[in-house]
Amino acid sequence: MQRLWRVTYEELHEDTLSAPEKELIQAAAKAAEHAYAPYSKFHVGAAVRLRDGRIYTGNNQENAAYPSGLCAERTLLFSLGAQSLISSVEILAVYSPHSLSPVMPCGACRQVMHEYQEKSQNRWVLLFAGASSLVYRFVGVESLLPFAFVWRPA
Ligand code: THU
Repeated sequence: MQRLWRVTYEELHEDTLSAPEKELIQAAAKAAEHAYAPYSKFHVGAAVRLRDGRIYTGNNQENAAYPSGLCAERTLLFSLGAQSLISSVEILAVYSPHSLSPVMPCGACRQVMHEYQEKSQNRWVLLFAGASSLVYRFVGVESLLPFAFVWRPA
């Protein structure tokens, strides 16, 4: 049997976003300014809005021993996980001033996002933006990572 995996997402102009969404992208942009990326010089900022309206941010952190560095998304999500705040995540925004098109998360970040979304038991709204006014909006991490690895022991 053949099956089709369809992904729906929106291509939006930043002006059409809701006020909380705009604010979140601005928070991610601010966070990108504080990235530690002396090697790639590719700054990325990430921000989440929790159900109660609180905003948390993160950014990429590199290291001279290259694989020791971490993407903005995981820096933020692991920090939220460490503070038991994952279950309240509602919206996640990622921004890079160094990408003209919306910056999209790497596979490892998608995997981490996928597991935390499952844990939080609600679908996250995901916003991706770059230096242009174009924003991609996805609803649900599963749209970004079909057939994600899940730990369900036999
Ligand atoms: N990076 C992120 O922080 N997030 C992404 O979604 C893609 C890549 C970082 C990792 C590294 O510090 C730099 O961007 C270049 O790959």
